[in-house]
Amino acid sequence: MPTNDLEGRAYVVTGASSGVGLAAVRGLVARGAHVIGASRSGARGDASEGLALDLTDPEAIRRAADGVRRARSALDGLVHAAGGIYFEPQVSRFGVDRTWAVDYLGHVLLTHELWSLLASAPRARIATVAGNPRFVRPSSFDPTALERPPTSGLAGASLAMSMRVLWTHSLARRCEGTRITALAFHPGLVRSNLVGNGPWIVRTSARLLNAWASPHCAIAVRCATDASLDRDSGALIDPSGRAHRFPALEAHEATLTTISARLIGRAAAA
Ligand SMILES: NC(=O)c1ccc[n+]([C@@H]2O[C@H](COP(=O)([O-])OP(=O)(O)OC[C@H]3O[C@@H](n4cnc5c(N)ncnc54)[C@H](OP(=O)(O)O)[C@@H]3O)[C@@H](O)[C@H]2O)c1
Repeated sequence: MPTNDLEGRAYVVTGASSGVGLAAVRGLVARGAHVIGASRSGARGDASEGLALDLTDPEAIRRAADGVRRARSALDGLVHAAGGIYFEPQVSRFGVDRTWAVDYLGHVLLTHELWSLLASAPRARIATVAGNPRFVRPSSFDPTALERPPTSGLAGASLAMSMRVLWTHSLARRCEGTRITALAFHPGLVRSNLVGNGPWIVRTSARLLNAWASPHCAIAVRCATDASLDRDSGALIDPSGRAHRFPALEAHEATLTTISARLIGRAAAA
């Protein structure tokens, strides 16, 4: 049954034009939220308003965040749903491959830029798409990979997923003492355009998978809004709402934080 329980609340959703982000936009708008939908084109789509944002470009991220800060005094949530699987390496303006920029560094910088708005809300949530907890492999996780091109599209996306899970853990520590909480989520199987740039065999398999996939992503909406998940801040939430934590991954926290700060700082100085 439709409700307007999110009326008066405002969210920024990245990846708003497709897949998980589009599903999150629709789910939040259906409950009366004001949703700023970010994508490269800046088209409004199904959101309340559009925001042009290229996550491979630090200057574009700062510009977009500046526009949001000028227009609003608070944000109730930030949903990081943009992502890519790229089959050709390409260096982004962060100076790292665009996989790491879109899937990870761009979201780290956007969060930093919008932090003051999140801190001004009565309570706020940062929800970041990751993936299936079964595919988080702490034993092969190497944060220094961030400074090298991924070995393949799928390997790049898989490592980026672990980076987002670990970043969420460290973000939750930063949130302590604030009214902000942070969750990563596994979206389930959501209709997607993710591998549109891949080899034909990958595109064909994705088309078949899309026939099974859902146009909705209830867990994205829940992770953006459900206060009962505050206690799980820092965890990866699966579609059933169960929280997963990865102590062995957390051992890499300091290294990932140091490398990320250096890359974002370097991009700022460029
Ligand atoms: N779909 C699933 O079932 C599923 C399952 C597990 C994990 N995931 C993860 O969820 C993430 C999103 O997947 P998806 O299925 O939603 O993919 P998708 O359908 O391809 O959507 C990707 C979104 O990211 C945006 N985007 C791409 N490059 C961007 C850039 N440089 N700057 C800003 N936005 C950019 C796209 O917007 P524009 O191109 O319009 O800019 C689009 O809205 C991926 O990391 C994926 O690994 C998805």
